[in-house]
Amino acid sequence: MDTVFYEITDEDIKEAAQVLRDGGLIAFPTETVYGLGANALDEEAVAKVYKAKGRPSDNPMIIHIARASDIGQLTPMLSEEIVKLIDNFWPGPLTLVLNKKEGVPDIVTGGLDTVAVRIPDDDVALKLISEAGVPVAAPSANISGKPSPTKVAHVADDLDGVIDGIILGGECRVGIESTVLDMTTDTPTILRPGIVTWEQIEAVLEKDVAANINVGEDIEGAPKSPGMKYQHYSPDAAMLVVEGRRDKVEAEIERLATLNERLGAKVGTILFEEKAYIEAANKLYDALRELDSKGVDLILAGALSDTDSVGFAVMNRMLKAAGYKIVKV
Ligand code: TXA
Ligand code: MG
Repeated sequence: MDTVFYEITDEDIKEAAQVLRDGGLIAFPTETVYGLGANALDEEAVAKVYKAKGRPSDNPMIIHIARASDIGQLTPMLSEEIVKLIDNFWPGPLTLVLNKKEGVPDIVTGGLDTVAVRIPDDDVALKLISEAGVPVAAPSANISGKPSPTKVAHVADDLDGVIDGIILGGECRVGIESTVLDMTTDTPTILRPGIVTWEQIEAVLEKDVAANINVGEDIEGAPKSPGMKYQHYSPDAAMLVVEGRRDKVEAEIERLATLNERLGAKVGTILFEEKAYIEAANKLYDALRELDSKGVDLILAGALSDTDSVGFAVMNRMLKAAGYKIVKV
């Protein structure tokens, strides 16, 4: 298939929106990562998203809307708490898991009776969704298992020739995926950490919030957020995270790099500035893809230390990328 590249002009965005309405797939920028969009109410279109990504069909998608008033077609659930979250965090990188309304196709929610919704904080995304006039189901626009795309080149590497169109947006401002918050449980529960933090959510709700974030690979049964059970965000290279005091981490990375190079391996390293968590979020996926494109065999990454909540979200992604392989020094 010939993939069309759309500029971010009104005219091109209108054309891309028409493709969505007609059941096609369009990759578009958001503030977090690029999304691969389809009309959420069109089962065939959504089925094409699973196919294009090679995504397991029990892994539900986030539905993107442009106005809070559009939420009524997706959920019958609107408590005072939900309205507070919407007022404080939308448009923005917070996804809310809510009870699903009849009429939302099962294929979007992987058969769950809940639905994940957010309004992205990106003008191009908002224009596209408004013009399409339908809610837009969009997982990250990568082949399943690869790092999420934060630049248009990443999307093209994975999906050029596979989807109808790609919007030529800029670099994503946040760089890691949205925080996912389940509002269907008695205590609101964070299913995926992100740049909207636990503390921020608790401050707005004025109560305790729980977290149910899958770590490790020994997950029994159906996890609450099905996407979290798959090894995600993986580079092609093997990856090891080194954790400890900064000087020791640097020395260990140096030692392991020398050792592995002597054995004939091509080694790449990732070491972010200390405490620059926002910047680390912004750069992690790009760094992973960059090292893969250089044909590196082994990636040695320094763990972020003394993390705040954003650092915690970055470490969640880094450890997943490494398949939880970590050494402490
Ligand atoms: O920032 C983001 O969230 C990006 C941009 C494009 O909006 N999207 C994204 O989508 O990261 P995806 O499909 O890669 O991740 C969606 C996550 C998965 O872990 C999925 O299992 C979870 O949200 N999810 C979706 N619907 C759910 C539901 N009803 N209940 C629990 N988890 C759900
Ligand atoms: Mg994804």
